[in-house]
Amino acid sequence: MKSVSVVIIGAGPAGLLLGQLLQTSGIETVILEQRSPDYVLGRIRAGVLEQGAVSLMRQAGCSERMDKEGIVHHGTALMVDGQMHRIDFQDLTGTSVLVYGQTEVTRDLMDARTASGAPTLYEAEDVSLSDLDSPRPTVRFRKDGIEQTITCDFIAGCDGFHGVSRRSIPAHILKTYERVYPFGWLGLLSDTPPVDDELIYINHPRGFALCSMRSHSRSRYYLQCGLDEKIKDWSDERFWDALQDRLPASHQDRLVRGPSIEKSIAPLRSFVAEPMRYGQLFLAGDAAHIVPPTGAKGLNLAASDVYYLWKGLEDFYHHGQSGGLEAYAGKALARVWKAERFSWWMTTMLHQFPGQPAFESKMQQAELAYLFSSRAAMTALAENYVGLPY
Ligand code: APR
Ligand code: PHB
Repeated sequence: MKSVSVVIIGAGPAGLLLGQLLQTSGIETVILEQRSPDYVLGRIRAGVLEQGAVSLMRQAGCSERMDKEGIVHHGTALMVDGQMHRIDFQDLTGTSVLVYGQTEVTRDLMDARTASGAPTLYEAEDVSLSDLDSPRPTVRFRKDGIEQTITCDFIAGCDGFHGVSRRSIPAHILKTYERVYPFGWLGLLSDTPPVDDELIYINHPRGFALCSMRSHSRSRYYLQCGLDEKIKDWSDERFWDALQDRLPASHQDRLVRGPSIEKSIAPLRSFVAEPMRYGQLFLAGDAAHIVPPTGAKGLNLAASDVYYLWKGLEDFYHHGQSGGLEAYAGKALARVWKAERFSWWMTTMLHQFPGQPAFESKMQQAELAYLFSSRAAMTALAENYVGLPY
């Protein structure tokens, strides 16, 4: 039976970032991932990093490419009733965000882990956790047909929404909170220059749209769609036509069309599981919470969880103090709930809700009218968008 200080379940951005940070602190880890590296890198997710996440990538020693290729954004635009409104992050908060795709973040973290020699076991099947409430929990799994067991001090459950970690917490202890939205996002990635230098969030009578980017030559666009929509019904041409129709008049002729490299539909959900700790198991990232993508908080929340957990583990191993680990769930959840609120608010304010009562529509209009009339309200949006402090 093998033994290690920390077993990390999941090699998404949360697990890999935690692994690298613990590596810099000299704390030994094994990462278990059920998929292959190519599968993990094939998932396309948001691409906006708060300064906290940027700083963690630097502390993890993984920032070389990000610092070179990431694009600093000092603001974003919201389009409502055909009018563009700019939220100036720099002016309102004195800071900015960095546009750098999550796929690239993941790739940089994977490369750094390989270079460090620390073990990641990909295609680890049937991972199961036991003795979580004892000082030496056990992780069992199968790799290349061989059953293996690892004992450890702590388990970091970084295995996403569908992972095994959250499900290993006894049902009578776990409490979950959820909202499922009555629409999804249809996303398209293409090697075409973005329609604008900044992101544009569009509230349009025919549905929300978002113009985003991965680089100066790669665009990422989204359209609000029904939950019953099928990708096969969305030819590239149909997507481009629908997007162009929702763009501000000033941008319709600027849209550069091209073949899609990826096209997918994602449902929108808000979800939180409490507590984020059970015995020696600590949940981080999507394993504990999901936000709808409006505002791009998913990866950034995973990063703040990882920060609190890294510091707690450092205190434990370097200073013999367990206070940081005791405080983990409380600190992480306090920040999680604020980001949940922000993502829910952005989603509610910017989408068309099918069959929405007239009163709710009026509230949405009033919310937007107030936002654009008040520097205080725009500052509130900006400070949440660039990221609340850790
Ligand atoms: N055993 C081992 N690994 C597992 C298991 C399991 N039983 N279940 C899931 N995994 C792996 C998944 O294959 C995935 O690679 O855990 C990883 C979880 O990664 P993500 O889903 O990306 O979650 P996280 O790292 O928390 O990411 C947080 O990034 O992907 C976005 O939407 C996400 O934006 C959020 C942020
Ligand atoms: C993206 O680029 O994929 C993206 C950007 C901002 C969001 C959501 C997604 O709010």
